Amino acid sequence: MTNLTIIDHPLIKRDVAILRDATVSNHVFRTTLRRISSIMAFTVTHDLRVRKTKVRTPLEVTTGYVLADDIVIVPVLRAGLGLIDGFLDVLPEARVGHVGLYRNERTLEPVDYYAKFPQGLAKSLVILLDPMLATGGSASAAITFLKRRGAKRIRFAALVAAPIGVKRVAANHPDVPMYAAALDRKLNDRGYILPGLGDAGDRLFGTE
Ligand code: PRP
Ligand code: URA
Repeated sequence: MTNLTIIDHPLIKRDVAILRDATVSNHVFRTTLRRISSIMAFTVTHDLRVRKTKVRTPLEVTTGYVLADDIVIVPVLRAGLGLIDGFLDVLPEARVGHVGLYRNERTLEPVDYYAKFPQGLAKSLVILLDPMLATGGSASAAITFLKRRGAKRIRFAALVAAPIGVKRVAANHPDVPMYAAALDRKLNDRGYILPGLGDAGDRLFGTE
């Protein structure tokens, strides 16, 4: 599908299955989300720019590398918080912004309640995180927020995506590459992804 990369890796397939399993505890759900997001981060950041530097080993001086891109990670509250530590584990130099959105249960349209971003978004690579891409309303709104604040290089990482949501984000934001661990079948009549993994925020925080 347009702009969408499905990250195909045996460890990701295994972790998606754990996350789908309705019997796993909040604790297992949380630790699995952290682990899978760390694995996904490798693909999402595969083309980051690096700058040469010198590093002194115990024996001599050699060439080393530092990241040349300034990176800002932005989780969509609440469920995006479950992906953030996995990304920060492999991108400790990243700064973090937050966008707060929830879906109106009747209209399924996003309602925004919070936004706070680091300075200098225009020069940063912004990685937006939300495990669920369902109707695509929340991701589209979050990307619009980021663009209004000056962000120019944005990529979006989800765990499970529905075709309709991918199409909506691609139509609204054709410049934003999307990454997901799985592309699922469709939405049910309450806007939940099938087969999906249920309500990601509730399973992460035990609020179901
Ligand atoms: C979930 C999820 C996404 C949104 C996806 O959040 O984390 O933000 O739904 O659905 P969409 O693609 O149809 O917009 P939710 O509204 O459940 O809020 P919460 O994480 O605060 O519980
Ligand atoms: N939000 C979720 O948490 N799960 C879905 O399946 C759809 C939206």
